[in-house]
Amino acid sequence: MNNKATINLNDKAYDIDIIHGSENEVALDISKLRSEASLITLDPGFKNTGSCKSAITFLDGEKGILRYRGYSIEELAEKADFLEVAFLLIFGELPNQEQLNKLSEDIKERSIIDEDLRIILNSFPKSAHPMGILSSLTSGLVAFDPSAVDIDNEEEMYDAILNLLAKIPVLVAWVYRRRRGLPLEYGDTSLGYVENLAKMMFQRPNKDYIQNKTIVNALNKLLILHADHEQNCSTSTVRIVGSSHAGLFASISAGISALWGRLHGGANQAVIEMLEAIHKDGGDTKKYILKAKDKSDSFRLMGFGHRVYKNFDPRAKIIKVAADEVLNDLGIDDPILDIAKGLEKVALEDKYFVDRKLYPNVDFYSGIIYKALDIPAEMFTVMFALGRLPGWVAHWREMRIRKEPIGRPRQVYIGQTHRSFSDIKLR
Ligand code: SDX
Repeated sequence: MNNKATINLNDKAYDIDIIHGSENEVALDISKLRSEASLITLDPGFKNTGSCKSAITFLDGEKGILRYRGYSIEELAEKADFLEVAFLLIFGELPNQEQLNKLSEDIKERSIIDEDLRIILNSFPKSAHPMGILSSLTSGLVAFDPSAVDIDNEEEMYDAILNLLAKIPVLVAWVYRRRRGLPLEYGDTSLGYVENLAKMMFQRPNKDYIQNKTIVNALNKLLILHADHEQNCSTSTVRIVGSSHAGLFASISAGISALWGRLHGGANQAVIEMLEAIHKDGGDTKKYILKAKDKSDSFRLMGFGHRVYKNFDPRAKIIKVAADEVLNDLGIDDPILDIAKGLEKVALEDKYFVDRKLYPNVDFYSGIIYKALDIPAEMFTVMFALGRLPGWVAHWREMRIRKEPIGRPRQVYIGQTHRSFSDIKLR
């Protein structure tokens, strides 16, 4: 296996180390390129640039493979509980029963939120986007737990991580309920993590809450499928903000803001809005495929395409099957699902999409399930953020434990060269 590459420049040869990942990915280690050859690289969007070595998640975009710490997403989505997956991502192994019980108990110990945060939440206008509220409240948590800013040891790190795993589901439920004018209530610590999330979100003050297994299983599967995805935009944001030694809450708040974008996690909301617009416009999928291909039209087929997957997003395959099952179990006949399937069929036979290897991604079908669970479109990305929380935390922890340097990319300057200041009278 070759471990060296050479760059020849101006009659000089520079040796570049080659490193190999455990899944045989090959990378040029350019960490000495500037000091040895006064060279940097340029790669807008980091399409070809690795920011770190990581042992958390592996994905192969050509083969449509996704594994968390070596376990396939298909197995985890089918057999695991979201809290097990959170433990796996953060600490590296599936927990045994004792470890899982301890994680669950430690979370319950921390699941009360200072009542002043409720006042902050209630100060937002009801029309405020839930992602903006969640990002603000996540950052605001540090006001009630200042020890989470300067984390210097494993114990402080564990405490900060558990505070987030405990409090974010409560904030998610409260943001959902605030929007509906419902009282902000806690759940029931005798319930499991996802069961309790469902109760916090869906319980009504005037009647007994009855758990719906279909809803809990659907939420569990969706949270697992969204739990991590290596160095995506929001996770890279968490790592780079965390690399300045900003606290965990501030780093996760930054990740929530990055996820909000329509090209990233915000796509799940954009997909359902797109499907509903197509339905309203008579359901003519071919018309919208033409719009998506028309370069003069800003319309994009939301939920299609991916920076890494140049084959089916394995999560989309699982969610598509789950959408049928959930709507069936709940006795819902949503024409939007048929429109989505029709759009997918037309796109996958169209040269434009085939040539560009544009397939449905994780966001294409997820909103159909959220909608069936009576979750409004503007809350979809908040659900994505809750799922992604253990992944963000795992990457933040990996970066901090490895004592990685502060992230500070270089640039190629193309602006004005030196010139002298001129008095305003002469301008
Ligand atoms: C997520 O990175 C992750 O892992 C993200 C994520 C995660 O789990 O964290 O998987 C979650 O963000 C999924 C992606 C959700 N976003 C969308 O569904 C928005 C719609 N998709 C696109 O905007 C786009 O596909 C991206 C942003 C997802 C990927 O963009 P790239 O890799 O920068 O690709 P590109 O924009 O350069 O597109 C390449 C070509 C272009 O055409 P040409 O210039 O070659 O003619 O494909 C076209 C694009 O115009 N194209 C699309 C398209 N996506 C790409 N054309 C129409 N509709 C689309 N959706």
